[in-house]
Amino acid sequence: MLVEAVFEDINEAKENMDSIYDQPDPRAYFRELNKLDYAIPDTAKPIFQKLIGHLQQRRDNTIQVLDLGCSYGVNAAILKHDLSMDELYEHWGQNKMADTTSEEVVAYDQQFYAGADNHEDIEVIGLDQAENAIAFAMETGLLDGGIVANLETDPLSTMAKKTLGQVDLVTSTGCVGYLTEKSFDRFLPAVSEGQMPWIANFVLRLFPFDAIEKSLDKWGYVTEKLEGQTFYQRQFASDDEHDQVLEQLHDQGVDPAGKETEGHFLAEFYLSRSMKDAAEVPIERLLLPASLQRQKTFQRQGCQELQTTQAG
Ligand SMILES: C[S@@+](CC[C@H](N)C(=O)[O-])C[C@H]1O[C@@H](n2cnc3c(N)ncnc32)[C@H](O)[C@@H]1O
Repeated sequence: MLVEAVFEDINEAKENMDSIYDQPDPRAYFRELNKLDYAIPDTAKPIFQKLIGHLQQRRDNTIQVLDLGCSYGVNAAILKHDLSMDELYEHWGQNKMADTTSEEVVAYDQQFYAGADNHEDIEVIGLDQAENAIAFAMETGLLDGGIVANLETDPLSTMAKKTLGQVDLVTSTGCVGYLTEKSFDRFLPAVSEGQMPWIANFVLRLFPFDAIEKSLDKWGYVTEKLEGQTFYQRQFASDDEHDQVLEQLHDQGVDPAGKETEGHFLAEFYLSRSMKDAAEVPIERLLLPASLQRQKTFQRQGCQELQTTQAG
């Protein structure tokens, strides 16, 4: 079956949230996602921070991040200003935000983010098809650059190509599935023109990553998955969504026992880098504490010894 058809089927199992993605301000988005305890930008944060830290040691420039499916600048807020999803839920759910216009929310947030701690020396370019969400994130200073594009259907504009030439890190949360290998085929040439960025995707276990990995491979990227780790994304919106997702997982041969059966979506982490960068420091050494790395090495050695004994 075509990957596109598979992704369309899988998306049907998920609650449709299109109506909250492109409002003039993020209040509805945060109100609805709070009900589902949407947390993937939070669970992804320590991984993104580690990657930024490693890149800062290797590069002299301010790290340029391209956030795919950036929405209202959620990952930018969390990384630049060291905020959490709970703080953002509280911020955009405040009583004083309730009876205000979107223009007033923008004006309030311009001041709020201008006064917030600049925790991380990064610049974030956001890409999303939601024009209003990008406009909000640009006006409030959360994004340093914004690209309104649906790369599933349209090519990247010449202007956007120029903006993406200096990207060091590509991030995504909650976005693969909406974006398929078609989008990756369309932005990879632009970001890979200079130094190859690190490409860091949090992907629901529901969505196969193979086709995107193939596309990355074409452009010279080696993809590693952080094995044995899952990342909480959100609760299921309904029993119906839960049932449909379990069915999809079974169809794909992914065992949901003790994971999605517990009532929430789980994501996995994929990192794609140049062959040279991946060979220099494997993903476990980049991201796992030393104790866990040792455990994994023992496990691997144990497996190898077992295989040798069995072969002998
Ligand atoms: C679940 S939200 C995730 C937003 C943000 N990354 C986060 O984790 O809070 C998915 C985002 O993908 C965007 N999106 C969906 N389809 C897209 C497409 N074809 N091209 C670009 N963006 C898309 C939506 O507008 C929305 O902002």
